[in-house]
Amino acid sequence: MTGVNARAFADRFGVTSDNPAFDSLPPELARILARRTHRAYAERPVPQDLIEALLAVSLSASSKSDFQQASVVIVNDRSLRADIARHFPAMPWIGESPRFLVFCGDSLRLEKLGALRGHHQSNRNLEGFLNASVDAALTMQAFVLAAEMAGLGCCPISVIRNKMPQMAQLLGLPDGVFPVAGLCVGYPAGDGHISMRLPMSVTVHHDRYDDSELTSEIEAYDTRREAVHPTEPDRQRNQARFGIASSYGWSEDKARQAADPEGAAFAKYILDVGFDMS
Ligand SMILES: Cc1cc2nc3c(=O)[nH]c(=O)nc-3n(C[C@H](O)[C@H](O)[C@H](O)COP(=O)(O)O)c2cc1C
Repeated sequence: MTGVNARAFADRFGVTSDNPAFDSLPPELARILARRTHRAYAERPVPQDLIEALLAVSLSASSKSDFQQASVVIVNDRSLRADIARHFPAMPWIGESPRFLVFCGDSLRLEKLGALRGHHQSNRNLEGFLNASVDAALTMQAFVLAAEMAGLGCCPISVIRNKMPQMAQLLGLPDGVFPVAGLCVGYPAGDGHISMRLPMSVTVHHDRYDDSELTSEIEAYDTRREAVHPTEPDRQRNQARFGIASSYGWSEDKARQAADPEGAAFAKYILDVGFDMS
């Protein structure tokens, strides 16, 4: 298999594909296969009109039941941005990117529609939370793809959920409106790199879920990934707890990361603002 899409597939997954459909797909899809997160940005400003045009595109994403439960906060106030960034010194790109948006799940608006029409109903159960989260995530991803097609680079920022009371206060988020992620946006300062994905044999199932080959697939993936982007020993995660492994790869890195779970503070906040997850 040749062609730009097949080459992009190989870069994305670290293996080649014999799928003939790649030859008939528009070459523009190679840009999605080759997409990457950017955390360093050029000085070049990103006009407000462009942000709003990209938001129009992203708000065209599909929406559960047409409930339209995404809300987006564009953070333009520099001192507000500095106040947000101050909470996350390990991620300086939060304060440095030319633009910063916050994509929120908005469970409140549907409750207000109920009050407006006299059909009072809480929307703070698990279904309401998930629907609003999914709408916000789809909207953010549509924004990222649209922005990348316009030459911009983005970095989603879920770490803001770790400081919810502070973020809600700074952004004026009422109970029932919660961030799924912030988003740094700017023209990329460099090329960045493609983050190799798990093979489709792991993530795509045919008729029935089957992970019987997972261990060997993961070993092979770790090897492929390390061959392209080796992890230097001093970059191994959380050495104080886990030491330095002689053989390190994505699976070890992600297992170490997950052993220090995030999210407890967000869960507490969500329960505190009235979601019951029933
Ligand atoms: C919901 C979500 C939240 C993320 N949060 C952060 C974050 O807080 N900080 C960060 O630097 N990157 C964050 N990322 C970026 C991921 O680390 C990145 O997408 C991943 O490493 C894969 O790289 P790629 O997008 O270049 O393929 C987030 C991505 C997503 C989808």
